Amino acid sequence: MAAGPIALVMAAGHGTRMRSSLAKVLHPVCGRPMLHWVTAAALGAGAAKVVCVTRPGDGVAEALPEGVESVEQVEGEGTGSAVLAARSHIEAGATVLVLSGDHPLIAADLIAELAAAHGKAGAAATLLTTAELDPTGYGRIVRAADGSVARIVETKSEDGVAPEDLAIREINIGTYAFDGDALLDALDQIGETGGERYLTGVFTLLSEAGQRVSAHPTKDTLSSLGVNTRAGLLEVERIAQRRIIEDHARAGVSFVSPESTVVEVGVHIGQDTVVDSGVTLRGETRIGEECRLGPHTTIADSDVGRGVAAPHCFLNGARVDDGASLGPFAYLRPGAHIGEGAKIGSFVEVKNSRVGAGAKVPHLSYIGDADVGEDSNLGAGTITANYDGREKHRTTIGKRVKSGIHTSLVAPVHVGDDAYTGAGSVITEDVPEGALGIARPDQKNVEGYAKRAEDRPSK
Ligand code: UD1
Ligand code: MG
Repeated sequence: MAAGPIALVMAAGHGTRMRSSLAKVLHPVCGRPMLHWVTAAALGAGAAKVVCVTRPGDGVAEALPEGVESVEQVEGEGTGSAVLAARSHIEAGATVLVLSGDHPLIAADLIAELAAAHGKAGAAATLLTTAELDPTGYGRIVRAADGSVARIVETKSEDGVAPEDLAIREINIGTYAFDGDALLDALDQIGETGGERYLTGVFTLLSEAGQRVSAHPTKDTLSSLGVNTRAGLLEVERIAQRRIIEDHARAGVSFVSPESTVVEVGVHIGQDTVVDSGVTLRGETRIGEECRLGPHTTIADSDVGRGVAAPHCFLNGARVDDGASLGPFAYLRPGAHIGEGAKIGSFVEVKNSRVGAGAKVPHLSYIGDADVGEDSNLGAGTITANYDGREKHRTTIGKRVKSGIHTSLVAPVHVGDDAYTGAGSVITEDVPEGALGIARPDQKNVEGYAKRAEDRPSK
């Protein structure tokens, strides 16, 4: 089998119109840098190797996905200079796909279609074009009598551009397939225009040298959408978000209010899960089948099992097993692991703790650095005091324990299986299995107090 083409992704430069300290191609679209969408599309289209052209110090080379290489553009401005910077990656006889790092919606299928059309036409260069967008500012395609591409007229500045060229609606969307040798030969001959070496200058040279340049028109305007400002990014994000949600919907997930829902790329959601309004699912998150999430729940980097209910919750780095119920208003922090069928109720915060299967922490608790055994029930306001001001310590609670309300468990401390604690206790010592630990002052009643208070003369 012949190796696939080499894909070069032009990604250098800061994109000053973004007004950001972050390089343009690193701005996220649905949780993944813009550039990663492009490299994923290139790989999806069958590229054997993907090389991104970056600038020294722009942080892009450090942020590439696995399996993607980079090369620095250290000299020259413009897209032609960008491709020349990658010269050492273009092997003799290779087909080269050239893509722009700021077109995150480019479809893998469209790149594959371009590569196939290029191979079939036996052209030196094939470029994707569209007549479906406002052509302002884009390179316009001037066709020869035989329908091939004679040249591209850049219109970033319209000064000196002939009116008949400005009237052309067919534009270059900046996605190309080249015969690599012909590309490098032509680029070496190109001069600078306004301080830039334009990649699009090669088409004039190739066509003048009698080599075929074909245009491959597409109606896929989304693939053609480039990002130059944060306002442009909003539009791309909106479209990408809708696509992600529709993919989940096709796979059997219900969305009550898709417009108010955020689901980052890479999140997995099981069939028959219902995602209510205002839900945000981020990062490496997996949700099982038949869950009911939201309204207004945020889940990041968490693993949630089957049949979990979580209205108005916030989870970050947590694991929740099948059938557990959370919230409303539960906060699960990194290392929280909630067992099967367990309940974490209102205003309960859990961090770095294992709550066993069937256990209940229903109201107003903080459980940090603790192990809570199966089927235990912690009364309202039970708190683990895990920090002594210098170090964190663990609390271990056995199975079927019942803590009274407002129990403070001062770690390190252990409560044995089947034990109880008295309401309001500050437990500083281990409670043996089956015992009642009670640690609070005895009650004292002052008889006749109300009467005496009443009889006291007022001043
Ligand atoms: C380019 C095309 C234009 C086309 C348009 C489609 C040229 C000369 N013009 O114009 O015909 O209609 O795309 O969007 O190519 N880059 C580098 N190094 C550089 C300069 C740019 O890597 O020195 C990268 C940018 O990061 C960007 C891509 O190349 O991802 C395109 O560059 P940009 O300056 O945006 O070109 P356009 O003016 O949009
Ligand atoms: Mg551009």
